[in-house]
Amino acid sequence: MPERITDFHAHILPGADHGSESLDTSLAQLRLLKNAGVTDAVATPHFYPERDSVSAFLKRREDAAALLSGALTRELPRVYVGAEVLVCPGMEKMEGLQSLCIRGTKVLLLEMPFTRWNERFYETVYNISRTGVNAVMAHINRYPERAAQRLVYDCGVSVQLNSECFASRRGKKLAMKWLDSGCVTAFGSDIHGSDKSAAASALRLSQITEKTGEAGKSVLRKSNALLTGAVPLK
Ligand SMILES: [Fe+2]
Repeated sequence: MPERITDFHAHILPGADHGSESLDTSLAQLRLLKNAGVTDAVATPHFYPERDSVSAFLKRREDAAALLSGALTRELPRVYVGAEVLVCPGMEKMEGLQSLCIRGTKVLLLEMPFTRWNERFYETVYNISRTGVNAVMAHINRYPERAAQRLVYDCGVSVQLNSECFASRRGKKLAMKWLDSGCVTAFGSDIHGSDKSAAASALRLSQITEKTGEAGKSVLRKSNALLTGAVPLK
């Protein structure tokens, strides 16, 4: 078992987005992750560029992080602060984009909209990956395979797999294909709330790391490398 098991994608900051409505929920989420063996979690509240300004987002995230920080204990996973940034065309020119990276790093977690992407979306991801950030595409398992492969091979991102793909045989097959490609740099629970399905997402994360052998360990090592320079809360 690797020393650090990192959940790279978790909606665990109280009030920062719809992932957690309160400090109690955030602490319950962290306990679920802890029980699943997670040692490190990256808090990745949604950033929607059409609804939010970078400054308003950062203020909300800061307040949420301060609230959580005051309640963290040594038994809970270490928490890093990042964002899940929805790609919109032209975003590479957005002021403050770099401030959405995981704090202390140049790592930016991106997500694609669930609509058909035209060329401008691919261009934008390519351009973002050339601005000096290390772009990681969230839950690559959710996108059509061909389109997802273009993001990696044409646009230069690495990818994060959600633990949900290990819930079905088909999802597992897809996940193993991605793992074989060597492009996966992170696993994530993408935990929202603290109900049964959140618990299952957390638990699957530990199962992935157990069941994927060397490939899974290699992903965890890559995640840890991505967090170089990141300072956890508290
Ligand atoms: Fe997410």
